[in-house]
Amino acid sequence: MNICVIGCGAIGTTIARAVEPMQDIATIYLTDRSKECATRLQEKIPKVKYVPDILPILNDVKLVVEAASQDAARYYAPLALSAGVDILIMSIGVFQDEEFQRDAFKLAKRKSAKIFLPSGAIGGIDALSAASLEEISEVTLTTTKPPSAFGPNAYLESKGIKASEVRERTELFAGSAREAVRHFPQNINVAATISLAGIGFEKTMIRIVCDPQVQTNEHHLKAKGKFGELDVVTRNVPSPRNPKTSYLAALSAISAIRKITGHVWVGV
Ligand SMILES: NC(=O)c1ccc[n+]([C@@H]2O[C@H](COP(=O)([O-])OP(=O)(O)OC[C@H]3O[C@@H](n4cnc5c(N)ncnc54)[C@H](O)[C@@H]3O)[C@@H](O)[C@H]2O)c1
Repeated sequence: MNICVIGCGAIGTTIARAVEPMQDIATIYLTDRSKECATRLQEKIPKVKYVPDILPILNDVKLVVEAASQDAARYYAPLALSAGVDILIMSIGVFQDEEFQRDAFKLAKRKSAKIFLPSGAIGGIDALSAASLEEISEVTLTTTKPPSAFGPNAYLESKGIKASEVRERTELFAGSAREAVRHFPQNINVAATISLAGIGFEKTMIRIVCDPQVQTNEHHLKAKGKFGELDVVTRNVPSPRNPKTSYLAALSAISAIRKITGHVWVGV
């Protein structure tokens, strides 16, 4: 089978390298708005074939993997789903847009295509998803990252905060997951993932903390409900290619691709 990867950044590159030895996958079509980056990867990885446009190859692929940006998810998800092709989306924050979420979920159903949302940079999504079948009274997430994990950010600028100048542990944001994803689109995909797995974007509460003393991207997920209590801390090593992205996020995408293309799913 063939797959198509959108994005040749930290996650897309790690995926392409991991998929190269998988015998079930023949070709990795790759697109990126940076042709240079995509053709460079094509030169290094034999199975990679750069395509400037995915439309001509859509009926030749089993799975599209979005590893680029919310804009890319917004553009490519309807294309893949309309063609009846499954899509794995890493830029999960895009689903805080209620209209996009409704349309994408409807389209997937109408075309019998699937949308896969990997657990990404956080542990505990499997338990939260099962727990949400019963009443959940609260879900909170505290995300703590070093200053290097925060790039230019309009919300922080409006508050007069420069993450690069933060010298002590500082709370940057507290509020709903919907607001968190809106203000930190590149940093807080996990807030979207737990919202979708649990009690939604309004009721899920998020704190974002910048701490110059930490070297990891830490996610502390807590939930309470009829099932009992969940308390999970994930301390992620940042990706060497992009400090905003945790290495575990790329690994979770690879693990998801293995499940989708394989025959045994553990921890479904
Ligand atoms: N789900 C999670 O837990 C999780 C964790 C980390 C990152 N992410 C998200 O995954 C995505 C990829 O992360 P990354 O670290 O690999 O990013 P990156 O910045 O290293 O690479 C992104 C690549 O995508 C390309 N790109 C961006 N928008 C595009 C578009 N519209 N069309 C074509 N190409 C486009 C860029 O040119 C770049 O090469 C980001 O949206 C990030 O927020 C999700």
